[in-house]
Amino acid sequence: MERICVLGLGYIGLPTAVTLALGGFSVCGADIRPDVVEALRDGRAPIAEPGLDAALAEALAAGRLTFAHTPPEADAFVITVQTPHLTRDDGVRAADLRFVESAARDVAARLRPGNLVVLESTVPPGTCRRLEAWLSESSGLAADEFHVAHCPERVIPGRILRELADNDRVVGARTGAAAHLACGLYRRVATGGRLRVTDDITAEMCKLVENTFRDINIAYANELSLVAEKLGIDVFRLIELANCHPRVNILSPGVGVGGHCIAVDPWFIHGLFPDDTPLIAAARRVNDQKPLLVADAVRRRLAPGARVCVLGLAYKPDVDDLRESPALTLCRALRARGVAVAACEPHAAAASVDGFDNVPLEAALSYDFLVLAVGHTLFRARRADIAARPHHDCVGLLGGTVSYK
Ligand SMILES: NC(=O)c1ccc[n+]([C@@H]2O[C@H](COP(=O)([O-])OP(=O)(O)OC[C@H]3O[C@@H](n4cnc5c(N)ncnc54)[C@H](O)[C@@H]3O)[C@@H](O)[C@H]2O)c1
Repeated sequence: MERICVLGLGYIGLPTAVTLALGGFSVCGADIRPDVVEALRDGRAPIAEPGLDAALAEALAAGRLTFAHTPPEADAFVITVQTPHLTRDDGVRAADLRFVESAARDVAARLRPGNLVVLESTVPPGTCRRLEAWLSESSGLAADEFHVAHCPERVIPGRILRELADNDRVVGARTGAAAHLACGLYRRVATGGRLRVTDDITAEMCKLVENTFRDINIAYANELSLVAEKLGIDVFRLIELANCHPRVNILSPGVGVGGHCIAVDPWFIHGLFPDDTPLIAAARRVNDQKPLLVADAVRRRLAPGARVCVLGLAYKPDVDDLRESPALTLCRALRARGVAVAACEPHAAAASVDGFDNVPLEAALSYDFLVLAVGHTLFRARRADIAARPHHDCVGLLGGTVSYK
């Protein structure tokens, strides 16, 4: 296996293509978005990720990385397309596998006997079996003439390149031959992590279970933040103390839960087993509700006509990713409650984000009321200036209400 095609050059696919190229493979990255392919052919990464620009330049200079609009022939195809969620006719939210199916059909046009197809996208259990059927149907090859494996991606934005090398990889496949081939591929790049082999369905569930665990834990923290506010105590100090217990590890509350993974993946389990997973659905509801409750709490504290600036729109500190952003939900909820609201997102270049003015921090500090929604390093550095203004701190950056340390 020397020629790899990576389909989907977003937050996961581009660093993966670069890493595979630097690992010695001959890689072609394919994306259906012409702007993405053109930018990459010019040597420009369309996403911000530490170390990515330099790694991309190195892979291009080595002549091992090219870009295309459609997949070429390859020994292995790695699918890293998006997997959003949708609301079904029965009202239950579930995975939207349109992009995976379309990528599968694109691969099928190039599929040759003996090829390996690895699905890295986060998917509900059973998707690899469907992928195999789509590939077989569109290529005319029998399922035993090619190999399918699932290696869910578990990196975190901000540390993607390092984690691609250092994280353990779960390698799941229906057949031992597919698992063996996939291990051969990842062994060359996951140099600091272990490869943990299992069946495809366990691998699919493993990624979902990890993110659902975090969602439920954060929902607990968010619920605690409501109780603590009513008690007049600092929820962050409360959790810090509870976590001193050797068997307790409560995550941090916030303005909600965002991003492409934790806010989405639990629905992939619930969508398949709605009657068996009331806890998963309840956690999702708690986390989705949180920005609306923050909006209510802020609204109660505002003088008439007060101008509010929400500090941070990204779904987590120090990234530019606004997908499923609870801070944007908060902005919309404040506006719906008649509040004049702007935002300060230093990682977004645009002067307006989703209809909200995006102002620099200096300008934000002149607003009547600040809502600290994301703990960006820039805000941490200006903690004292922010704390000096009337504020609501969703992330515990400014120190709590009561603390006898
Ligand atoms: N972003 C993360 O932090 C993260 C972490 C772990 C896992 N994941 C999972 O990885 C997958 C990819 O996520 P992402 O954040 O990189 O998504 P993304 O939206 O940033 O990128 C997906 C890319 O795939 C392209 N695409 C869609 N259909 C295509 C096709 N048929 N052929 C070629 N390209 C196609 C899109 O144009 C887009 O550029 C998702 O399943 C996600 O849940 C994401």
